[in-house]
Amino acid sequence: MKKDFLSILDLTPNELDELFVLADTLRKDTRRHPLEGKTAALIFQKPSLRTRVSFEVGIYQLGGHPIFLSQEGIGLGQRESASDVAKLLSRYNHLIVARLFDHQLLLDLASYSDIPVINALTDLNHPCQILADMYTIRQHGKLRKGVKVAFIGDGNNVVNSWLEVAALYPMHFVLAAPKGYDPDKDILHRAQRAGASTIEIQRDPAVAAENADVIYTDVWTSMGQEVEAAKRKKAFKNYQVNEHLLALAKQDCLVMHCMPAHREEEITVGVLDGKQSVIFDQAENRLHIQKAIMTKLIEQYAGKD
Ligand code: CP
Ligand code: NVA
Repeated sequence: MKKDFLSILDLTPNELDELFVLADTLRKDTRRHPLEGKTAALIFQKPSLRTRVSFEVGIYQLGGHPIFLSQEGIGLGQRESASDVAKLLSRYNHLIVARLFDHQLLLDLASYSDIPVINALTDLNHPCQILADMYTIRQHGKLRKGVKVAFIGDGNNVVNSWLEVAALYPMHFVLAAPKGYDPDKDILHRAQRAGASTIEIQRDPAVAAENADVIYTDVWTSMGQEVEAAKRKKAFKNYQVNEHLLALAKQDCLVMHCMPAHREEEITVGVLDGKQSVIFDQAENRLHIQKAIMTKLIEQYAGKD
């Protein structure tokens, strides 16, 4: 694996598969402690429940110690430059996990760091989430070539990571989003050029949901976009994942949401808590897949001391 895990495009298709197999092993075998005697610095500029807890628990289970650093505490890019923070943390630690607003700041951190950096979400993408989601689809026996994933909602960081995985794994990915809420153009074009998957941008959620194996949604207003919340609520009002939409998909279609969820906004309570929903498997799988990523990186880049 490359030194840093900043995007799913840092992986080869083979490495994607190896991570799934390693996650299977690690969830059964808790005796592997590649992080023993090691520490990981966790930088969070944005709020988090799942990501922070799954990384902290995962680091502990792998024998290491997590050090949580809030933006107020360290002032990344304000009190100190990304290069100074990266070089300093490399002297004490073996891994950096970072959740940041600006993706460029993550790239800067990685380029100046001697130790692996893992992307825990930026405004641009959320690769750990989508790896856990692919792993969840596989766990439910639905990961096969051409699997139809219909994402209903905002073309945000989560969608960008779906497009990145679609560049590696052959699928039919359809985004239904209102005009003006499309994903990152460069990421979209790169995924289309890769030619592995069929990728569509739709305006009509009903067309997107038709015959889907997976219906996925996320909040309409991501972290950092709070001032746009009212405008977005209006723009997305016809993009709710509800019982009518689900009825258009395959009968055994999985319902997915990266969470946090806004009940009765982007998804109805009945669908979110319904029998097709796998949202808590997704959340649990963050732990297993991130343990696999950290194990691979530590064994490759920091295993010797
Ligand atoms: N899905 C996800 O990343 O959740 P948190 O924002 O709570 O970490
Ligand atoms: N798109 C959401 C994902 C949260 C996990 C956000 O960035 O807030």
